[in-house]
This record gives sequence, structure tokens and C-alpha cells, in this order.
Amino acid sequence: MTMTLEQVAQAMVAPGRGILAADESSGTIKKRFDSIKAESTADTRRDYREMLFRSTDAMKGHISGVILYDETIRQKAKDGTPLTKIITDAGSLPGIKVDGGTKPLQFSPGEVVTEGLDGLPARIKEYHALGAKFAKWRAVIDIAPGIPSYTCVKANAHALARYAAICLEGGIVPIVEPEVLMDGAHDIDRCAEVTEWVLREVFQELYINRVTLEQIVLKPNMVISGQKAPKRASREEVAEKTLKILKRTVPAAVPGIAFLSGGQSDEDATAHLHLMNAAGALPWKLTFSYGRALQAAALKAWSGKPENTAAGAKAFSHRAKMNGLAAAGKWSLALEKTA
Ligand code: 13P
Repeated sequence: MTMTLEQVAQAMVAPGRGILAADESSGTIKKRFDSIKAESTADTRRDYREMLFRSTDAMKGHISGVILYDETIRQKAKDGTPLTKIITDAGSLPGIKVDGGTKPLQFSPGEVVTEGLDGLPARIKEYHALGAKFAKWRAVIDIAPGIPSYTCVKANAHALARYAAICLEGGIVPIVEPEVLMDGAHDIDRCAEVTEWVLREVFQELYINRVTLEQIVLKPNMVISGQKAPKRASREEVAEKTLKILKRTVPAAVPGIAFLSGGQSDEDATAHLHLMNAAGALPWKLTFSYGRALQAAALKAWSGKPENTAAGAKAFSHRAKMNGLAAAGKWSLALEKTA
């Protein structure tokens, strides 16, 4: 049975479920493996990701979709089963990262623009044939004195909208990801101001590029203090200000919003999502599309050793369950400790 684009978008944000971002580029996954002193080879990357995708409780119960990297969507498990089949057998949807990463933006010191539009229609066609139901493109906006610039926000919003239109034309749901980084020393109100600006530009560009909002999933940052801010806002303030900005900028036609974790601790990412979902009725589903906040504990438990596969899968299952509860507004600190 073929699903319509609307049905895919809705399935990605189905109640109590969210997305596993496992689309680290070869460079990024090497950094993650370095942190656990594991070698990064095609086989170790396969073993690690196979461990996650075979965590049946997590996948069946809480993971609606998995974002893959080009290498992974073509890879087979140790027993020869395509990794995409393991994902679909668990009732989850395979997706694919299609952006080409960030490059310095001309005449805009310290700012970047995401590349990868050239040849994208043909690549989308190939990924569609490989079983991808959705795609991801990440735009990156940094906050520092004097930035972001108008040029940076505009260029990134335009590229996101072009990407989204290309995906829809090729029969794939686009995850639209404008990430305002939390790396700086800025306070939460500066993050709110920039996030509101970026989201307004993104939805304007989506409109100009004739993107049907019912067929996309938005993947934004939360409104949060910079990591280096002298005084960081509370979890309650993050939840309140994130909801305030999203209500101002995201049309109700969008089926769902799946947050990135962006460097938040595992528990913060879960608690923030829970508080927002517990706050009352919302026009869209609010869930997770976490990379680090879903994988950090599993990566550490696994540590590159085959004998730790069960422990790694268990750690992943726990985080998937906690975030599934948060997506339903049913998480608590007490449940967190039942690991
Ligand atoms: P993090 O949750 O680690 O930010 O990763 C999500 C993601 O897909 C970034 O593009």
C-alpha cells in the first residue's frame, strides 16, 4: 500500500513516537566513535547502527522513522538483511539526509549556508527507489555579536524551501530543519528573537516555493539559552518560550514539529519536550528527532565492543521510551530512574 505524502508526514509524528536521527556524516560519526575510543570503519558503523535498529522494543514502540546517511541506506546487516528492511519490519520509516553540509557564506564572516541543491532531483529519485520515505536538510544559523545577518537567514531559508519543493516533487516528505545553534553566550531572549525571525523567513520561502505545508515536518531548535550563557533559563522557561515562538510562526497546517536536541543533555531534551506536551492542546504534534539525546547513552554503553551490544540496545530503548512518554506529555523524573 502506498502512503500519500500527508500520511507519511502524519506517521512520522504519530502519538508517542518520534524520529531517530542516525544520519551522522562519516566525519561526525568518527568524532562520536573517537569519544568512546572505537575505530570508525564501514563495519563498525554498520554494527553500531544495526544494534540501534534491532532494538525492537524501542523501534516498534517509539521510533516512527530513522534518518539515515548515504552509506547506511545502502548497507546490509551482518546476516545480509538490508538495514532499511530491519527498519521497515519494525514498523518504522526509513529517511535520508540529503544536504551536502555547510560552507562559508560569501561576504558574511562566521556564517554558513547549506549546499546540495545541484543534482538533488536525481538523488531524490534514487533514494525514493532505495525506499526512503522522507528526507532531511539542515540549515545552520549561529548567534554571536552582529550575527545572524539578513543575508544568512535569507540564503538558508531559500535553500530549505527549494529542497522541500524538490522532495515533494519526487514523492518524499521533507524534514525542514532550520537550526539556531545553542553554542554561544547569548541569553534565551536573544534565541527567541532569532528563532522567530528564522521561522518567519522559512515559512515565507516555503509559501513562495509552493510547498504544501500538510506534507512537511518541521525540525527546529528549542528556544534556549546559549551553552556559554552566564545564567541559563529554567526548563519551564524553555518550554514556555519555545511554545510562544512556535505559536507565532508555525501554521496549524503543519502536521508536526520534531525537535533537534542540539547539545542539550539527555534529560533536558526529554524534560523540555514533556513540559511542552503537558501544557495543553496544541495545533500540531510535538515530538523528537534527536541524534545525540537518543544515542549518547547507547554509544557509551556499547563502547565499540560486540559483547556490549545488549547493553547498548538497552540504553537506547530506555531513552526512546522516555522520549516517547515526553511526546505524550507523560514523562516524569520517577520514570526516568526506572532504567
Ligand atoms: P541532535 O539531536 O544531536 O542535534 O541531532 C539532530 C540532527 O539531526 C541534527 O541535524
